[in-house]
Amino acid sequence: MTERFTGSFTQQEPIPDEGIAAANRVMQTGRLHRYNTSGDEIAETALLEEEFAAATGAKYCLAVASGGYAMTTALRASGVKHGDKVLTNAFTLAPVPGAIAAVGGVPVFVGVTEDLVIDLDDLAAKLDQASVLLLSHMRGHICDMERLMAMCDAAGVDVIEDCAHTMGAAWNGVPSGRWGRFGCYSTQTYKHINSGEGGFLICDGAEDMARAIMLSGSYMLFEAHRAAPPVATFAKIKYETPNISGRMDNLRAAILRPQLRKLKEQGVRWNARYRVLEEGLAGTPGLRLIPRPEREQFVASSFQFLLLDWDKEAVNAVVDRCAACGVELKWFGGAEPKGFTSRYDSWRYAQSEPMPASDRILAGIIDMRLPLTFSVEDCALIARIIRAEVGAVYQSQVAAQ
Ligand SMILES: Cc1ncc(COP(=O)(O)O)c(C=O)c1O
Repeated sequence: MTERFTGSFTQQEPIPDEGIAAANRVMQTGRLHRYNTSGDEIAETALLEEEFAAATGAKYCLAVASGGYAMTTALRASGVKHGDKVLTNAFTLAPVPGAIAAVGGVPVFVGVTEDLVIDLDDLAAKLDQASVLLLSHMRGHICDMERLMAMCDAAGVDVIEDCAHTMGAAWNGVPSGRWGRFGCYSTQTYKHINSGEGGFLICDGAEDMARAIMLSGSYMLFEAHRAAPPVATFAKIKYETPNISGRMDNLRAAILRPQLRKLKEQGVRWNARYRVLEEGLAGTPGLRLIPRPEREQFVASSFQFLLLDWDKEAVNAVVDRCAACGVELKWFGGAEPKGFTSRYDSWRYAQSEPMPASDRILAGIIDMRLPLTFSVEDCALIARIIRAEVGAVYQSQVAAQ
């Protein structure tokens, strides 16, 4: 009998009661703007920044309006100017090249490996083209960070980490976001903590953070920040740095603080679900699981596998058959960008050389959301459905050969 899944792939958990209560308190005061405080009150946003800095081990933290805004601010604060080339992943989501375009930069795409991380050999060949790499830990897969940093340091290339999918994750014990000059995070609904929209920027550079704070729209109120460099750092920067407003507000910060406290616990729940899927799909003929190296301490919020070198029709058949059983798979190999999925060759404002080795991988990437509203039993069921449908299509392909 064909099994069917009836859960929703887009349903996240509710905001914790503590967060709802804190949000209500903020609304009762009416003081939603981060610089609108009364007496010696410390704004929720400033407290959240302090807590996020402590959670990641960064010296400084700035909460902002979105992950995309965090990336553009990091690029600006790193000195990227109109016309500058910026290295970035060919396999990522549209806000990443979009952040580069937003500062007038020109993305130079670097390939993807079968392990769904940036291709370090391709990076080595392109390192002389730019002085900044916007590195996307796309879908939570982290590359060999020691090797990447050694290469970038030797070439004088600054690394900005896009940690939209790696909040709470680490490589070899060092949190993602702590390897490069800046770490950028998103708190958009589908990420590890949820404020609808929002983001963070972390770094250790005093001048870098002073610039980022001014850019985010601090006016001359930067003294109200706590996870920030000493006021003297702003002496010159405050005159030189434009205000490009993208602040976080106290309402979102109030919602996020209790979620941040639960991040580790949630990570364990996410990974338990991930492992059930992985186990359920292991050994499926024609399906390649993505290896998770021991040095990578990931926090899953989605699941990927490869149908490598499959015909497009056959991949489409798997996606359609799974959809008919209630399992929503997204395919990065479709001819047209759809929903959240697009590829380097969909972003026509950013021309690229053809990348046949990456095209082969992208054509086989299947992606699935993994909300915490799924139980481990749900994940076992989803794995059985995918296994059965991949198996059926694979068998018919083999039979046709
Ligand atoms: C890989 C990646 N980077 C950055 C972002 C940007 O985050 P935001 O939506 O908060 O701008 C996203 C959002 O989906 C993303 O998936």
